[in-house]
Amino acid sequence: MAPGDTTMLVASVLPADFAELGRQVQEIEKAGIERIQWDVMDGVFVPNLTFGPDVIRSCRDRAGIGFEAHLMVADPDPLLPLWIDAGCEIVIVHAETCRHLHRTLGRIRELGARSGVALNPATPLQAVEHVLDLTDLLLVMTVNPGFGGQAYLSGMEPKIAAARAEIDRRGLDVELEVDGGIGPDTIGAAARAGARVFCTGSALFRGPGTMADRAAAMRAAARGGIA
Ligand code: DX5
Repeated sequence: MAPGDTTMLVASVLPADFAELGRQVQEIEKAGIERIQWDVMDGVFVPNLTFGPDVIRSCRDRAGIGFEAHLMVADPDPLLPLWIDAGCEIVIVHAETCRHLHRTLGRIRELGARSGVALNPATPLQAVEHVLDLTDLLLVMTVNPGFGGQAYLSGMEPKIAAARAEIDRRGLDVELEVDGGIGPDTIGAAARAGARVFCTGSALFRGPGTMADRAAAMRAAARGGIA
C-alpha cells in the first residue's frame, strides 16, 4: 500500500489450486496483497463446501500476512475458537446465521480476534446498526455467497454508501469491505460508494500479466474511484 493509500486488497483463496495451496499463499504474499480471506462454506448456509480450520492452519506458516475467516456456515458459534487457533486474526460471521449476533461478535473479541459481520445482498444495513460498535469489519457482499466468478451486483452500492455514511457519522473504526465480482472494472464503483477493503478472487488469480500486475491495476482503479 502506498503512503496515504487507504485501500486494501484481500485475496480470496476460492479460485486457488487447492493442490498447491501453500505455494499459492506465498504467491499472494509476494504479489503484495495485505490479507487472505478463507471462504469457509458448509454446504448448508451456502450451496458449496470448502475447508475447515486444519487447512487454514496448514498454510499459516507459509506467509506472514493476515488471515480472515469468512464463515458462510449455518451455525458459526460452536467452532469460533478453531478459526482463531488456526491463525485467523479476523473472524467474519454472517448476520443471517447468528441468533444472538451481539453475543457472537463480543465472543470473537473475547477470544482475541477482531470481529467481522457480513451482509448478504438481500439483508439491509439496519440488521447491524445496533452492533456496529462491536464489530471491527463490515463485509458487504456484492454477490450471493457460495461461489467465486459471479457478476458484481452494482445494486449494492447504495448499501455500501449508507454503511460508509453511518461508520463516518458515528466515528467508528470499522473496516468497510466488499466481496464478490471485484475486479478492475468494478472496484472503482465500489470505492466511489465508500468501500476501502476489497476481497477479490477470480480477478486476482486470472487475467493479463502477473498477480502483482493484476493487483496493481485494481489498486489504481480503486484510487481512481476515490479521487
Ligand atoms: C462468495 C465468495 C466470493 C469470493 C470472491 O461466496 O466469498 O465472493 O470470495 O470471488 P470472486 O472475486 O471470484 O467473485
